[in-house]
Amino acid sequence: MNVKFFLDTADLAEIEEAASWGALAGVTTNPTLYSRIGGKLDDFHAHIKRICDIVGPDCPVSAESVAMTRDEIVRDGRELAAIAPNVVVKIPTMVEGLAATRALADEGIPVNMTLCFTVPQAILAARAGARYISPFVGRFDDISEDGLAQLDDVVRAIGNYDFSEDTVNGEQIEIIAASIRSANHVTQAALMGADIATVPFGILKKCVQHPLTDRGLESFLKDWEKVQNA
Ligand code: G3P
Repeated sequence: MNVKFFLDTADLAEIEEAASWGALAGVTTNPTLYSRIGGKLDDFHAHIKRICDIVGPDCPVSAESVAMTRDEIVRDGRELAAIAPNVVVKIPTMVEGLAATRALADEGIPVNMTLCFTVPQAILAARAGARYISPFVGRFDDISEDGLAQLDDVVRAIGNYDFSEDTVNGEQIEIIAASIRSANHVTQAALMGADIATVPFGILKKCVQHPLTDRGLESFLKDWEKVQNA
């Protein structure tokens, strides 16, 4: 399995730009990100379809259900999954969410269990049949706890076992390092062996840049000017 970048956004321009760089392997959205771009409830499904069209069928697009009961989440999940074959239903790690994940996984619908903070939560998500599990890093840092250490625990615990009997079509679970706030979070997630880092566009841009790259470019250009004037 390869380490991959997902973009954590609902902004179509950002998705188009990141896709053009050739390294975009998926998109994750959530209600906050959708509201940030002025999203309206009745346009939500159409918006997810637009994202799916931009990234193409090989890139999973996580669309979150905000329903609170098993049956409502399952209904939402079926509707979301019907938008495009690459839609992944994003469901919070809670009792009703686990039950809905089991039901959707049994129907062959992939689930990304989100708002996951601990190893026991991740194990429950795995046993419920989640295709992706999203441990949050930054939110731990926000409360002065070590989000990277928690991510490391989840990566190692899930990596210890084979959950292929629980997942859709026996696929291997992928861990998405989420709530990523810096390029260093991405570095550490990759060193720990997380399968995916889902990052806001601003962080993705920071991952491309380095001051020494900029300085190197400046001196190349200066020297090239000298060559041209020689
Ligand atoms: O994918 C989850 C992510 O959107 C949460 O990030 O920065 O709101 O903690 P953040």
